[in-house]
Parts: sequence; C-alpha cells; structure tokens
Amino acid sequence: MRFGLFGTGPWAHMAHAPALAAHKDVEFVGVWGRNEAKAAELAGEYGAAAYSDVDALIADVDAIAVALPPDVQAPIALSAARAGRHLLLDKPVAFTVAEADAIAAAVAERDLASVVFFTRRFVPQLADFLARAGESGGWVEARVDHVGTIFDPGNPFGASAWRRESGGLWDVGPHAVALVMPLLGPVVEVTAMAGPHDMSHVLLRHQGGGISTLTLSVDVPPAAAREEAVFAGESGVITVPTLPWDPVAALGVALDQLVAAADGGPAPALDVRLGAHITAVLAAAAESIRTGRAVRVSAPGFPLG
Ligand SMILES: NC(=O)c1ccc[n+]([C@@H]2O[C@H](COP(=O)([O-])OP(=O)(O)OC[C@H]3O[C@@H](n4cnc5c(N)ncnc54)[C@H](OP(=O)(O)O)[C@@H]3O)[C@@H](O)[C@H]2O)c1
Repeated sequence: MRFGLFGTGPWAHMAHAPALAAHKDVEFVGVWGRNEAKAAELAGEYGAAAYSDVDALIADVDAIAVALPPDVQAPIALSAARAGRHLLLDKPVAFTVAEADAIAAAVAERDLASVVFFTRRFVPQLADFLARAGESGGWVEARVDHVGTIFDPGNPFGASAWRRESGGLWDVGPHAVALVMPLLGPVVEVTAMAGPHDMSHVLLRHQGGGISTLTLSVDVPPAAAREEAVFAGESGVITVPTLPWDPVAALGVALDQLVAAADGGPAPALDVRLGAHITAVLAAAAESIRTGRAVRVSAPGFPLG
C-alpha cells in the first residue's frame, strides 16, 4: 500500500513515519507539511519525497496517514476519501460532528478502509484484557482518570496551540471514550463540567444503561498526574493493566488492520465510524460544559468495537 504522510510535528516523527517505514506491506512515498523544510527533513530520513501540495501527494498514493491538528486533518481526510484513498487518521477525527460524519460517509460510499489511531486499543495486552472482560459481561460502570501535564520542560506536545485550548477534553478524551466503549457500548447521553485549568469531568450514559466517569486533563500539577481505569459490574471490579508504551508497534497493528481491510478483510473495529461517534461524544461534552445541561447523542446503528 503506497502511503503519504501529512504532518511533520512530534507525533509524525515519533510514531507515523517510523511505523510506515517499518511495515512490510507499506511503501512510504511522501511527506506533506506546511513547512517545506520540515517536510524535506522528515521525508529525507526515510528516503521518501517531500510534497508542498496536498492534492499532489493524495494523487500519488493508495492511502494517507495523518498527524496534524484535528481541524487540519479533517478537510485533508475528506479530500483523500473523496479521491478514493484509504485513511489512517489520528484521534480525534475532527472537532465537529459534521466534518467527522462527512469523512465517515465518504469512506462508506467508496467502500474504503479506515483506522483511527486510538493508540492503546492497538496494544495486544489491552485487546486481550478487553476480550476476556467482554466474555464475562455484566459491566455497568467505568471510571477513567486520564490526567497529566504536557507543559513540563522538554515535553514535545506542550507547543501545540489546539492542545493549550482544549487538550484535556479533545486530546486525551478520545482515548478514554475508546477505552470504555467495548465493555459498556455506545454513548447516548453526556453531562460534563470544567474544573481548574483544562480539567474536564465527563459522565457518559451508555446504550445498555451503564455509566462511565472520565476525568481528563493535560494540565494538572505533576504530583496529581495519573492514568487509571476501572470497570465494575456483576463480575466484580477490574483494573486495566499498565501497558507498555510503544506507539510504533501499536501503529504497526493499526496498519496491519488497514491493509487487511483494503484487501477485502474485515473492517477494523476502530474505524472512522467509531471515530465519528467519539467526536459526537466529545462535542456533546463541550456543549454540556457550555450550557450546564445534559446532551443526547445518537447511538450509531452499527456494532462498535
Ligand atoms: N494516538 C496518540 O496517542 C497520539 C499521540 C500524540 C498525538 N496524536 C495526534 O497526532 C496529531 C499530531 O499531533 P502532534 O503532537 O504532532 O502535534 P500537533 O500540534 O497536533 O501537530 C503538529 C503538526 O501540525 C502542523 N500544523 C499545525 N497547525 C497547522 C495548520 N494550521 N496548517 C497546517 N499544518 C499545521 C505543524 O506544522 P509546523 O511544524 O509547521 O508548526 C506540525 O506538522 C494530533 O491530532 C494528535 O491528537 C495522537
């Protein structure tokens, strides 16, 4: 699968470029960035070509990988899908429900393959844990604390303008929602409150009646940082295990699934339809924070993994 990479920032360097270069079924064709020198530098590291024109790179490949802010990713993903290219997107798919739904519709109309990179969900240990927990069933509650800081010295993510504005909800929120969905199902209602800095406290009502509680921030005092997740129900209380942090390996799993789906295999569970539902959940949380009201979300009419 011939791939073009969009983005030249920290995540393109740490995850996307090395994963594309390492995958046996991928030809890493080119890199687009708004800064041509950065695109040339990143492309040069992997023997790929630098592109200064978005459409030219889309035209030269079978699939695109995107490591850009969500509002920059969305229109590029839509153009690529309309041109018949498979999509490896990063989370969140978009900031708006309209954009995320348009991408999902373009993918569905053309029968394209898509994956959204909810990193931990592609870690085999977490996949095994969720599969085992799913067999026992009866889960009615979840609590996810995804709370850290990106503003400590040397942290590459602290320079990102959109994270400074909405990092707690939109940067780590997608991971938290993607984590609770396999055991509790799609979300039908959202209530949220903002705390100090960019803290978001979010309550999700799931289709089966279960409720999850998410605590999300990228700007807490370092001593308050934590990443914990617990499910509770008829089988007791289970804690999500601490997972190895290897984004290149996880992205390799996402690429395996995308290549297989493009070859006629099953659609990945974490595809753009799921990504669009997660955008709807986060947009509902933002609306609830603004209005002080609970916000309904339409549960998608397809199974969610
Ligand atoms: N799955 C995960 O675990 C995970 C982890 C980290 C990041 N991500 C996702 O990966 C994406 C990229 O993240 P990042 O950490 O690299 O930081 P980022 O700030 O989201 O993106 C940086 C890149 O976007 C470019 N950019 C910024 N504003 C732009 C604009 N208006 N037009 C065109 N290009 C623009 C930057 O170009 P310049 O260099 O020229 O400024 C740089 O190439 C984000 O969507 C993030 O959510 C996912």
